[in-house]
Amino acid sequence: MNRLVGKTALITGSARGIGKAFAQRYVQEGAKVCISDTNIEAANKTAEEIGANAVAVHLDVTTQESIDTGVAETIEKLGHIDILINNAALFTAAPIVEINRADYDRVFAVNVAGSLFTLQAVAKHMIERGQGGKIINMASQAGRRGESLVAVYCATKAAIISMTQSAGMNLIKHGINVNAISPGVVDGEHWDGVDALFAQYENLQPGEKKKQVGEGVPYGRMGVAEDLTGMAVFLATTDADYIVAQTYNVDGGQWMS
Ligand SMILES: NC(=O)c1ccc[n+]([C@@H]2O[C@H](COP(=O)([O-])OP(=O)(O)OC[C@H]3O[C@@H](n4cnc5c(N)ncnc54)[C@H](O)[C@@H]3O)[C@@H](O)[C@H]2O)c1
Repeated sequence: MNRLVGKTALITGSARGIGKAFAQRYVQEGAKVCISDTNIEAANKTAEEIGANAVAVHLDVTTQESIDTGVAETIEKLGHIDILINNAALFTAAPIVEINRADYDRVFAVNVAGSLFTLQAVAKHMIERGQGGKIINMASQAGRRGESLVAVYCATKAAIISMTQSAGMNLIKHGINVNAISPGVVDGEHWDGVDALFAQYENLQPGEKKKQVGEGVPYGRMGVAEDLTGMAVFLATTDADYIVAQTYNVDGGQWMS
């Protein structure tokens, strides 16, 4: 505890799920956090729940205007940004012959362009401030290999791993570490949606896919958001200063690389 005293963090898509757990843990470690999301009501509620060291801003990563306004508002409320967690993302699934362009564009806009241009906006602020920073992107085991029904989401997460490498190499000269976390399967509202999609395509009962994937994890169960928070803290501390452009698997043994 107290590993992030005096630090400030902007976390995208943190009204719920893994982003919310990151925010809760960061505050326990002494940081001040900005809960940002398209769902501002939920973001406000999450910030209130966390308490005085959390603020909320509306930030839709799909428009440059919203990124610029959201980052400026975060700086206004927190003073500056030391840490960015690029966490907002959408999931989608369909057999290759059923993928439609609108869905592809919708998911790439959030997961890839959204992450890149939020990273860019925060990196500009960090460079201008001259005190370095930590940027953590959320990848996925889905970015390590393809999945039969998940071509689009897998491609977006492979792009995150690649962008983490390029941005990590480009920004380290400014003292900005860019790294990524690659979760496996993490229970929560997100996976309720994934389960429903698989039920439709694989003719399964609700809850069956979750059970299957949980049984397939070497650790013996699906992850929970709290399984990821330790790595998110570590990557934001000076202990991680010499770690550049890496993607860490935190997945109960699902993927080895
Ligand atoms: N849950 C898992 O099993 C799992 C596995 C691997 C990777 N991940 C990754 O971890 C991250 C968090 O996942 P989660 O399970 O908490 O997801 P989630 O769906 O529960 O939360 C995502 C949040 O992002 C917000 N959001 C959606 N579009 C947005 C936009 N345009 N701008 C800003 N916010 C937006 C949503 O409102 C939501 O609050 C994602 O990057 C996801 O891809 C999750």
